[in-house]
Amino acid sequence: MRRTIVNSLLGVIVAGLLSLNWLLRADPNQRNFEVLPDMAHSVPYDAFSANPNFADGMTLRAPVPGTVIRGFMPLHFDATPEDAQRAGRELTSPFTPNDANAFARGAAVYGTYCEICHGPAGKGDGTVAQRGFPAPPSLLAPKAQGLADGQIFHIVTYGQKNMPSYAAQIDRDDRWKVILHVRSLQQRSK
Ligand code: HEC
Repeated sequence: MRRTIVNSLLGVIVAGLLSLNWLLRADPNQRNFEVLPDMAHSVPYDAFSANPNFADGMTLRAPVPGTVIRGFMPLHFDATPEDAQRAGRELTSPFTPNDANAFARGAAVYGTYCEICHGPAGKGDGTVAQRGFPAPPSLLAPKAQGLADGQIFHIVTYGQKNMPSYAAQIDRDDRWKVILHVRSLQQRSK
């Protein structure tokens, strides 16, 4: 008995709300009322919004000349033998063979990227060379032994004749670390 009363009361309320809704007849094409519009729309100019304050009407400004991308370390060398020499004079490795992690990482990088051409011991007898690619000179030869770290870094970064650049595949730190492994191969051969 009581339940029927409650149910009919609820029915009356729903009917009342429905008719109120119909009476107010909100236009579905209109946006709802915005509460605190400043929270949703920024007051300053957005990056891609039009901007009357600049002659070209755009908000985004070109970076000033010499701007460096955050986290990017510029390398001011060209892919020339002269600059390889200069790299040998000007650059020093940030890693030492005593750094066990760097040393192990260098060996791994060598195994992934260099061994296929230069061979496991650096003798220039990797599988790629065995299958017809011009064999690289031995990394154990006096010439390679005499290369400064910076020169090897330059060779791995920019390539040298038949050896392509590995800058895109090997990040800067890893390019230094792999030199630790080349040096250890050279040490072992002595
Ligand atoms: C695609 C094959 C190939 C790969 C991979 C390769 N190299 Fe080379 N590398 C060569 C060739 C060929 C040369 C000889 C270039 C020339 O004629 O001067 C060379 C030259 C070098 C030299 C100079 C040797 C000298 O006596 O002038 C160094 C140092 C060197 N590579 C290190 C590396 C390291 C470190 C890696 C791995 C990051 C690597 N290379 C990966 C083919 C390769």
